[in-house]
Amino acid sequence: GPVQPPDLSLCILATDSQADDEPVNCCPPYSTSNVVDFVLPSNEPLRLRKPAHKLSPKEIERYKVAIAKMKQLDPKDPWNFMQQATVHCTYCNGAFFQVNYPDKLLQVHGNWLFLPWHRYYLYFWERILAKLIGDDPTFAIPYWNWDSPEGMFIPSIYLDDTSPLYNDKRNHDHYKALMDFDYTITTPPFPNPRPNEYPEVINKNLKKIKNDLFSKDNLLKPDLFMGQPISAGRETKEEPGRLESLHNLAHEWVGPEAKPNHDMGNFYTAAQDTLFFAHHGNVDRMWDIYKKKRGNKVEFNHPDFLDASFIFYDENRQVVKVKVSDCLNVEDLGYTYTPEVYSWQGIGQ
Ligand code: C2O
Repeated sequence: GPVQPPDLSLCILATDSQADDEPVNCCPPYSTSNVVDFVLPSNEPLRLRKPAHKLSPKEIERYKVAIAKMKQLDPKDPWNFMQQATVHCTYCNGAFFQVNYPDKLLQVHGNWLFLPWHRYYLYFWERILAKLIGDDPTFAIPYWNWDSPEGMFIPSIYLDDTSPLYNDKRNHDHYKALMDFDYTITTPPFPNPRPNEYPEVINKNLKKIKNDLFSKDNLLKPDLFMGQPISAGRETKEEPGRLESLHNLAHEWVGPEAKPNHDMGNFYTAAQDTLFFAHHGNVDRMWDIYKKKRGNKVEFNHPDFLDASFIFYDENRQVVKVKVSDCLNVEDLGYTYTPEVYSWQGIGQ
């Protein structure tokens, strides 16, 4: 059967696998049996998610205000920035066993739940932020457009150390450097590309996007793109799709090289960096592009996919149960992405 949401009353200590399995508390600040079924938004204008490097000064300001408000909430408030960050740890570092399987941890990485789970995570995060600034129906989170040449740098709004978007726990050598998609945290020192090498590295990065994400094979076989199936009672076998594998790159690029790689280089802390949400915005967008390239055909017509469910604390302060089948079209969820030129589209093999 499909993976079920956790029993909130049975939260256990999670572990930081990059810090010698140090136990960490990622339990939600609430426990309730009052869980209602999620309903899709209706009669709303679409929220338009834009590239972070293209936000207007007004949009930057609005985003900063929203994040600042989220950071100022009571630390125990489920909307609080750190509480929101901890939600990632909950589903990724083993804070719950699967219902009815007391020895199988709930894990949304390394399998086909990766994209749907993170889509919902961002969905609620965006709406909570919108609530915090007066329920702004036009508010949308920015995304890190790393699939375009201008986007292959950490967007500058995240580098201003006086901004609530800033996080100092990063690899400072990468602050102004072009991303190299072959970078890996496990083989330092890895030299930053020099400006005279930019065209070549950009080209290589674009090819990687095209070939890793949008090859004919991937378009035909969603498990290659999204990750392998998982059903209730099974442990994830670490069989991520190509998109998840490529996504690890930005985590490693942003996080510091030294263990335990907090914040972005470690599941436990990744979402404590606002860049996480820009990064995952683009991951989500890649899925959306993929979906549209496939003529919106459902990726897996299987109940273990469609009926898999999670719980989130929503923008109405209600605990909701969401199903994968409800999140397969971003427009149904009330948002969309700016149309951008796909620089990788025309690139050779
Ligand atoms: Cu839950 Cu970028 O990982």
